[in-house]
Amino acid sequence: MKIYSAPLQGYTEAVWRNSHILVYGGIDGYYTPFLRYEHGEIRNKDVRDVERKNNTVDSLVPQIIAATPDEMRPLLELIANEGYTRVDINMGCSFPLQVRKQHGAGLLPHSNLVAGLMKEVAKCTNISFSVKMRLGCNSKEEWKELMPILNDAPLRHITMHPRLGIEQYKKPVDVDAFAEFYAACKHPVIYNGDLNTLADIIRIEQQFPKLKGVMLGRGLLANPALGIEYRSGQELVNIEKGNLARRMHDLMQRELSPRLQGNTQFLSKMKPYWEYLLPDMLKRDKKAILKATTIEKYLQAVNDALAEY
Ligand SMILES: Cc1cc2nc3c(=O)[nH]c(=O)nc-3n(C[C@H](O)[C@H](O)[C@H](O)COP(=O)(O)O)c2cc1C
Repeated sequence: MKIYSAPLQGYTEAVWRNSHILVYGGIDGYYTPFLRYEHGEIRNKDVRDVERKNNTVDSLVPQIIAATPDEMRPLLELIANEGYTRVDINMGCSFPLQVRKQHGAGLLPHSNLVAGLMKEVAKCTNISFSVKMRLGCNSKEEWKELMPILNDAPLRHITMHPRLGIEQYKKPVDVDAFAEFYAACKHPVIYNGDLNTLADIIRIEQQFPKLKGVMLGRGLLANPALGIEYRSGQELVNIEKGNLARRMHDLMQRELSPRLQGNTQFLSKMKPYWEYLLPDMLKRDKKAILKATTIEKYLQAVNDALAEY
């Protein structure tokens, strides 16, 4: 089974991906956070994140969010010009701002929009597409209406995160509904959602032996070694995890500090990773990292926390 790194806006950007593959690896493909076309342009930040010169990961799949072929085309053009031949279409984003524009999970109640996108997909012969979706936006029945359209489209695979858009991340994943989808989908299926430990991955693999793979999101932010643990069949001990986290942190710091001016930008980029990373570290250590107001205090807190881990 393959292991994929999920797209997470604000987290799994080029610097994280480049550092992760170098320090950990164990991932068969990394997905970029979604690129969007808005007010007649693509954000510079999104462009930089897919530019080849900023990426060392070969197995990188750009993800896009769009409701119509017109919104999709400029994104595909940028991606193709950068030499990519793979694109993932986001049909799962639950951010209300996106959903309101019928983007992400907001597409799922509208089979006509999905059919429009799939028509464009079929026309586009230089790119091979995949879809990442939820069960629905408002109801767990929505995927059923989309299934014939998606089954007929030339897709490499579908990644299913078995929740509703309106649930965001609150309710537990619906594994029974996933089982129904897994049985009905003609394309290879990737499971995504709440896989936080090696045991979680193995349980899903045993339950769904025909899966093409699993996609790891917050679980990989928390334990970036999850992919290598799956490959070796063994969990790392804390001291190994701490050492690897330190190496990845050093690499990210080296990349980010010259780019981000001053304390505030650097700290506001780095601190959110600690909301997820190594959740079983001592509470007071984590608090010291999150409370640090200068780079010096922050680095000292990181150093102390990893030494104690
Ligand atoms: C902060 C954040 C940002 C996310 N950004 C994206 C995104 O850009 N594209 C996408 O398809 N999913 C996005 N997701 C959803 C994740 O890729 C994933 O589907 C979800 O977190 C469930 O998987 P997990 O339990 O392994 O994290 C995001 C989730 C979070 C928490």
